[in-house]
Amino acid sequence: MTDDELEAKLGDRDYYRPPAKFVGQANASDPAIYDQFDEFPEGFEAYAELLDWDEYWDETFDGSNPPFFEWFVGGKLNASYNCVDRHLDERGDQTALLWESEDTDERRRIAYQDLYREINEVAAALKDLGVEEDDVVTLHMPMLPELPITMLACARIGAPHSEVFAGFSADALATRIDDTESDIVVTVDGYYRRGEFLHHKQKADQAVEMAETDVDDVLVWTRHGPENLHEEAEMEDGRDILAEELLEDFQGARVDPVSRDAEDPLFLMYTSGTTGKPKGCQHRTGGYLAYATGTSKYVLDIKPEDTYWCAADIGWITGHSYIVYGPLSLGTTSVMREGAPDAPHKGVIWEMAERYDVDIFHTSPTAVRMFMKWGEEIVENYDFDFRHLTTVGEPIQPEVWEWYYEHIGGEDAVIVDTWWQTETGGHLITNLPALKDMKPGSAGIPCPGIEAGLVDDQGEEIEPATGQAGNLVIKRPWPGMLQTVYGDDERFIETYWEDFSDTESSDWSDWNYKAGDGAVHETDGYFRILGRLDDVMNVAGHRIGTMELESAAAEVSDVAEAAVAAREHDQKGEVPDVYVTVREGVEESDGVRSAIYEAIEDEIGAFARPANVIFVDELPKTRSGKIMRRLLEEISNDESLGNTSTLRDPSVPEQIREKVHGE
Ligand code: WTA
Repeated sequence: MTDDELEAKLGDRDYYRPPAKFVGQANASDPAIYDQFDEFPEGFEAYAELLDWDEYWDETFDGSNPPFFEWFVGGKLNASYNCVDRHLDERGDQTALLWESEDTDERRRIAYQDLYREINEVAAALKDLGVEEDDVVTLHMPMLPELPITMLACARIGAPHSEVFAGFSADALATRIDDTESDIVVTVDGYYRRGEFLHHKQKADQAVEMAETDVDDVLVWTRHGPENLHEEAEMEDGRDILAEELLEDFQGARVDPVSRDAEDPLFLMYTSGTTGKPKGCQHRTGGYLAYATGTSKYVLDIKPEDTYWCAADIGWITGHSYIVYGPLSLGTTSVMREGAPDAPHKGVIWEMAERYDVDIFHTSPTAVRMFMKWGEEIVENYDFDFRHLTTVGEPIQPEVWEWYYEHIGGEDAVIVDTWWQTETGGHLITNLPALKDMKPGSAGIPCPGIEAGLVDDQGEEIEPATGQAGNLVIKRPWPGMLQTVYGDDERFIETYWEDFSDTESSDWSDWNYKAGDGAVHETDGYFRILGRLDDVMNVAGHRIGTMELESAAAEVSDVAEAAVAAREHDQKGEVPDVYVTVREGVEESDGVRSAIYEAIEDEIGAFARPANVIFVDELPKTRSGKIMRRLLEEISNDESLGNTSTLRDPSVPEQIREKVHGE
């Protein structure tokens, strides 16, 4: 896209001042905070100071072995202690987690004191199962309080957790189990979604079966108590353990939080990349927790007395950083909910916001578009009053932003558009809400201490704040950044650093982190995120690699080749279209089509289900045989076809277009 086309597409928007109601009480209200953090690396000590350390660090930052940067070196701390124990004296009775089911009569308020007790008991139970410090524990848990409880129990004993989003299939779970050779899996018998009690444990059973790793223990929570196990769930002798039964032996148990080195891993979070299997982003204890806590305080403006609701799923990074670690470390009340946003009715989110007097609400543009489609009449029935609204995960269209501002924020809440990634641990580009004006569609300026910039495809720096588009890079390390790709340092370097860094250099300042996103750096210094430049799609805020979709489709024996293109979708942002050729002698049929849908649901999960499966005679390929997905994307989006002259057969895209859109 040329700059002119970009301008025409996005237009110039007005600024909105942060409402006085917000500014007067904000955690960050002095613009000097930006200068303070510009002292590198000392600025970030302010985030680390928000934590309780068993031993203070000797060195704030060690950049001597790029890109393996270390933070708060020599420091020791425990994340579970920081999220729970340290609040007990002052606010033991305060609600830490407020949980509600789709069945709104079913609610739980877990005070910090109760959370402390439960985490300790689970930690003791995990130890009893043989989990030791540094053992990876795989979780496949939906939005139940037992998920954060188990995560924090793992953190307490120094066992990195690897939570796999409950919507992922058995196959996807097995891949993740094998990547870490984790020999324990934690699951639940079932959970509710749109009124249905889903059988969930079977996925763990299948995954354990498929995995090459010998899984010794499957710890099974139960949604309705051990005596009411999901009717189809079967317990395998010697392997499966009912959590509640095991816990009977550990009532009142206490487990001292282990003092973890700041650089010891806290957890893994797998994410889709451009090639091969998903990458295990490894996050460190000290730097990550400091960064999640600091950004929760200054960007999300969380205070201990707030009720804060991030409506994401804990199975993704947003939930890790901004439902669990950041908010609990600040000692606030964090809301979580099981089920779909329109069950039992489309007003339930606002009904809960009213019931709990939620102050801060955090969601995705996909969700806002959905609320918008449902209509403001639904919202108007409820009396809630937010002071802060966050969006994350995708670009938000200015008109969607304005609807959110008016109908959810009542024109007196700030809207904070936060750009970041699984890899970054916390927000990197977003305004400190009291200090910068809002601009719809624009994430804003980099967070304190973060140096962002754009480079062209050759890695040459693009003049800052000139309205040009380029590859987004982060030019200076920050404490929340991933440590490495689990077990694969090479891949870490290749994926994030190689393209735009001087990899020969041992000077950290020659290393630029490649985000994989395109952005425009506007003349006011704000960044407008354009989306992924690599083969990663963003479907309703979920990151999915096109390669993963393609290899799942190619598993179907009738399929010769598959290529995936992202089609723009007014609700979900993007949806996958799968273009396939069938093998010689195979008929293009609904049967083959269903097999492809099924293969994708099996290999990844239902959330990755393609919008269309399109049979074609041939895929557009260059003379060297490379599939040109760009052309398929243009066809899917009914855009004019770009250059086709490098194709082996330049007539192919036109044939496909006729097939998709008619003549
Ligand atoms: C996209 C989610 C525009 C982006 C925290 C990024 C965004 C990917 C925004 C990371 C935003 C995230 N505006 N795009 N505010 N936030 N993205 O790893 O393409 O699930 O690279 O982390 O989401 O997705 P991930």
